Parts: sequence; structure tokens; C-alpha cells
Amino acid sequence: MENNIQEVLISQAQIEERVSQLARELSREYAGKNPVFVGVLKGVVMFFADMVKHITVPCQIDFMCISSYSGTESTGTAVVKKDVSVDLKGRHVVILEDIFDTGTSLDFTYRYLLSKEPASLKICTFLDKPSRRKPEITLKPDYVGYEIPNAFVVGYGLDYNEYYRNLPYIGILKPEVYENAE
Ligand code: IMP
Ligand code: MG
Repeated sequence: MENNIQEVLISQAQIEERVSQLARELSREYAGKNPVFVGVLKGVVMFFADMVKHITVPCQIDFMCISSYSGTESTGTAVVKKDVSVDLKGRHVVILEDIFDTGTSLDFTYRYLLSKEPASLKICTFLDKPSRRKPEITLKPDYVGYEIPNAFVVGYGLDYNEYYRNLPYIGILKPEVYENAE
């Protein structure tokens, strides 16, 4: 599996440091607000667990799942496969995501959760690939772990065809892996 990794882009130690910094920042900003952290499955699992372990204020967690990628290209359309179960009306909600790429998925998730009338709605993404953003997407992430270049990455929850999610770091997948498969 690791033979297919071209380069470790973000090490396990770097991830741990950045995630605890982000969680401290969110704990300060959400003190007294009883936030709800909503994770978008499945890519967010590792980031989500690491983040909430470091949140020091009372909070609730929930998950949703929308239709995802197949291979390395976004399909452009989304459907809700699993909805949240906490009532978000009047709540301070933070969406946690693995990666903000073209922006299609997060734009959909953001608008969907906004329709539930939260008191506030913010976006915290572990990775941001601004160079890939579709021009019509004006949504901006409020909190970003790392801005990364335009490369297909795996690990720390992120997959290629459902594999590599278990790697404890963010690695760049060798392009021949997906070029040979398609
Ligand atoms: P977007 O709709 O193009 O922003 O894509 C968001 C989703 O695509 C993410 O939640 C990931 O599941 C997937 N994705 C985008 N870029 C990558 C990548 O580099 N590696 C793995 N998955 C990715
Ligand atoms: Mg995802």
C-alpha cells in the first residue's frame, strides 16, 4: 500500500500539532455556545475524532453522509444518504470536512444544513485545495488545517476507491495508480 505513495505531504506529527491548534481555536470561539459538530462521512472520520477529543467546551456531535466521489473526479451532483439526527434549529453548527476541493460537496452540505435554520453555520476543513475551486463556488472555509497544492492525496481518512483511509499521514498518491486503473 505504501509503495503507491509518492510523497508524504503532511506527517502524523504535523497533523497532531495542527489539529490540536485548531481545536483550541474552536474551543475559544465556541465557549458558552454549546456547538454541534457535524462530520461529513466518511473521509472526515479521523479528523473528526482527533478534533473533538481536543475540544474543551460542552458540545454535541453528529454525522451526515452525502453521495461521494468515484475515482478521482467529483460527479458534481449530491444526494443526502444519511441525515443528521440532532435538531439544528437555533444551534451553533460547525461542519467538519476532510477536504475542500472543487467545492461542490461542501456547497451542497452548507446549503442543506442552512435550511435547518441554525443560529450560525461555519466550515472547518482539514485540507483546502483552492486551486481546484469551481469559479461559481463563492463559499469560503472559516477554518483550514492545511492549504495544499493540486495533487490527489490519500490517508488520514481520505481514500482512493475506498482504500488508503487507514494511513496515519497525508500522502500524494502516485498518478500511475489511478491512471492505470481508468
Ligand atoms: P469537492 O466536491 O470537489 O470539493 O470534493 C469533495 C470530496 O471529494 C471530498 O470530501 C473527498 O471525499 C473527495 N476528494 C477531493 N479531493 C480529494 C483528494 O485529493 N483525495 C481524496 N479525496 C478527495
Ligand atoms: Mg469526503
